[in-house]
Amino acid sequence: MKKPDFAEIHARVRTLQSGKRFAHTEGVVKEAEYIAKACGFSTEFVEKARVAALLHDITKNLTDEEQEKLFLKYAIDIPSGPATMHEKTGAHFARELFGAEAVDEEIFSAIFCHTTGKAGMSAFDMVIFIADFTEETREHKSCRDMRAYLHAECEKLNGESEKAEALLRNVTLKIIGDTLNFLTLKKRKIDLRTVEAWNFLAE
Ligand SMILES: [Fe+2]
Ligand SMILES: [Fe+2]
Repeated sequence: MKKPDFAEIHARVRTLQSGKRFAHTEGVVKEAEYIAKACGFSTEFVEKARVAALLHDITKNLTDEEQEKLFLKYAIDIPSGPATMHEKTGAHFARELFGAEAVDEEIFSAIFCHTTGKAGMSAFDMVIFIADFTEETREHKSCRDMRAYLHAECEKLNGESEKAEALLRNVTLKIIGDTLNFLTLKKRKIDLRTVEAWNFLAE
């Protein structure tokens, strides 16, 4: 399979998502690019982050039944919460559609943990995880506050990679904290990988 470029993937994803969902996807692309550039990461990193962002919700429009069929097809364990299904099916589905060269290990991992997080998240994982929460079409107060904090901190970075890494860890931890608060308040199940992500990042 020839490695598709950003425009080709963009055109295909557009056919798979509703207008509002696609606006969110484009918001994540823009936000991931902003964060990666502010952190001083390489051009290659920035371009890959844009592709991962474009693909991150590729199976989000599917029903729970359709998600479960994909779990069987790709032989992956069904997670405890339906809201986290699409990250796992999305990573496999994106690779099936666009090939392992376009959806390499780094992009696969970022899609696979963009909702739950995981232990040992890389800087690349964290850029996509954060961008999904802070992109401009998210209107919830917690998202707006996080975006304001993140952007203010990004402006102070001056591309210093050590500070950038600390900021990514700090913001990821804050988002996971918000998620855990929300889930416990609502008495919802918590994916164990989210707890592992918290323990990995907490002091
Ligand atoms: Fe998602
Ligand atoms: Fe998303």
